[in-house]
Amino acid sequence: MSRAQVLDLVEAALPGDELHDFLRAARLSGGLAEATLLGQPARLVTTYADLKGFMIDEVTFPGGTIYQFQVEPAIGPTFISMDGDQHVNTRQQAMPAFRSRPVSRFVDEQLVPLAHEVVDRFAGRGEADLVAELANVLPFWAISRKLGLPIGSEDKQRAVTRALLAHVADPAGARRAVDTIDAVVRPVMDERRREPRDDVLSRLITAGMDDAQVLSHVRLLYAVGATTTSDAMSNLLRLVLPDPALHDVPVPLLVAESLRLEPPVAVLPRLATQDSRVGNTEVGAGTLLLAALAAGNRDPDVFPEPDRFDPHRDGAEVLSFGVGPKFCPGWNLARSQLAAALSVLLERLPGISVVETTEPQGAILRSTPRLVARWTGSTGS
Ligand code: HEM
Repeated sequence: MSRAQVLDLVEAALPGDELHDFLRAARLSGGLAEATLLGQPARLVTTYADLKGFMIDEVTFPGGTIYQFQVEPAIGPTFISMDGDQHVNTRQQAMPAFRSRPVSRFVDEQLVPLAHEVVDRFAGRGEADLVAELANVLPFWAISRKLGLPIGSEDKQRAVTRALLAHVADPAGARRAVDTIDAVVRPVMDERRREPRDDVLSRLITAGMDDAQVLSHVRLLYAVGATTTSDAMSNLLRLVLPDPALHDVPVPLLVAESLRLEPPVAVLPRLATQDSRVGNTEVGAGTLLLAALAAGNRDPDVFPEPDRFDPHRDGAEVLSFGVGPKFCPGWNLARSQLAAALSVLLERLPGISVVETTEPQGAILRSTPRLVARWTGSTGS
């Protein structure tokens, strides 16, 4: 790939097919194409086999290193910025509440009623921007409930999570966001120390974490749990709602295929700690690698007709939740949440159609900014 084609992936919006055309060209160029991330030269990993191969090697390409710069200064030490045994042990201590049984219970008892509550706010109006009113609301409410925190204004919740994750660009803003969320968490944490309940905060406490560890992990889960799910929900609605033929397909199949075609985390960074190889390409120590999950999900060697939305394909595992030791521990909650949102929407708003929408955009985190839908009648919850 020529220098002229080198793109800074943080700057680039790459709406719709532009991202996928760019990644296809990178894959066809063979080896690891050049790109930059915040001005730093980087190499793009784009084939399914190379992605699977290098991301499981946590000695040469540890997942925690980048997060030590990207999130730890704001959020504090958590398992996302750790590697090796420390990562495994802390992750095990923090995440039991995200295993399949507690998640199914949470979905039935709390999440589905929350989805109805969100839909109640606009169902009678006959028209709404479902990104603004559903995708940007439900995941923020859901993570607060799951953690055991009160549900606040979704706009404030979104602003806090955005600021926590933007520590590199705006450290002062991230510090203010930490103060805001800690002011909510501290009183609940004190209450749960006295009287534990069925929520993540209580689990972190009973797992033996001290106050500083509990606070860091709540900040982490609050920040990463909602934004990715919100972005995935906007892309799911964008892919499914405009095509009425898809409205009768089983919802879990639609969720899985939308995550393959438009993953909300399109590209992930990794740093090589020693001279090594990715596929057939030599990679020097210190090389910044960009794992293009969105490219692996459309690798034609693994997914035939990769650009087609086909909810009935069965085959290889998609890469949207990552690969290896840092595979997303929230995948179960995320998929259940996406399925609950779409099911409730299709059940409550029969005959829904899309009036106006935008393409998914963003080359690192990818979401659909707007989708206005209209319906003629609505059913009660
Ligand atoms: C559709 C929604 C989601 C997507 C696409 C997604 C994607 C990912 C990906 C790709 C990774 C791997 C990061 C890496 O290798 O560097 C990851 C890790 C992670 N995700 Fe998710 N995620 C989603 C939802 C969630 C939710 C709901 C939670 C909250 C519980 C969550 C919590 C985490 C955490 C804590 C990590 C770090 C894992 C570790 O360090 O071991 N994610 N996610």
